[in-house]
Amino acid sequence: MNKSKRNAVIAGNWKMNNTPEQTTALINEMKPLVANADCDVVLCVPFVDIVAAVEAAKGSNIKIGAENVHFEAKGAFTGEVSAEMLTACNVEYVITGHSERRQYFGETNETVNLRSLAALNAGLKTIICVGETLEQRKQGVTKEILSMQTKIALKDVTAEQLKNVIIAYEPVWAIGTGETATAEQADEGNKFVRDAIADVYGADVAETVTIQYGGSMNAGNAEELLSKENVDGGLIGGASLKAKDFSIIVAAASK
Ligand code: PGA
Repeated sequence: MNKSKRNAVIAGNWKMNNTPEQTTALINEMKPLVANADCDVVLCVPFVDIVAAVEAAKGSNIKIGAENVHFEAKGAFTGEVSAEMLTACNVEYVITGHSERRQYFGETNETVNLRSLAALNAGLKTIICVGETLEQRKQGVTKEILSMQTKIALKDVTAEQLKNVIIAYEPVWAIGTGETATAEQADEGNKFVRDAIADVYGADVAETVTIQYGGSMNAGNAEELLSKENVDGGLIGGASLKAKDFSIIVAAASK
């Protein structure tokens, strides 16, 4: 095990929050607070906020991401956005497979795989989300669920492309609920993901993949979660909407 082989990445997931005007104001507030970060700092924002976010983040260490991407290059897919559209707007990161997409918008392991492949083929750094429900945890199949979601999401992803992959382990029961996984649960979940990657790409490659924890990570619990061997960063929902809280998490990842 060697955490130093991996990049620490703190990514905000704004979900359905902020207008372009609010985006500019929040990023301007965040910029000085995260300027000394010793980790990658990313904000994944709604599609309509991307242009404002890229403009506001210019010249800073904040990178901008999207919250989803479609797998086709173009065509009759009302409401969807392609990878090329994102890269044309200077987006560098994208989230795929968030549990809210799986839960409310019919995403499956297969569509998550297709979306991730489209993102990676376009050169986007791709934050692929996996996570078990409370029911699955109670049934004792967390390891199997995480392994299956990880392996299907990475189907046909080459070892070279894997360098642009970040996996976010987000237990569904901990998202937006205020109920954080314990540091031990987070570390264990991330280890299950790393083991699944090792099955496919080998242990040496798996050691280099950044695996985030997500689910009610906040200014108060980030340091403990991030101290764990397998927790290489965080995907932050609610706490990424507050500049100060987000910057405290970034500082915790920079230690
Ligand atoms: P939360 O969301 O931090 O508000 O729990 C995390 C996520 O859904 O990525």
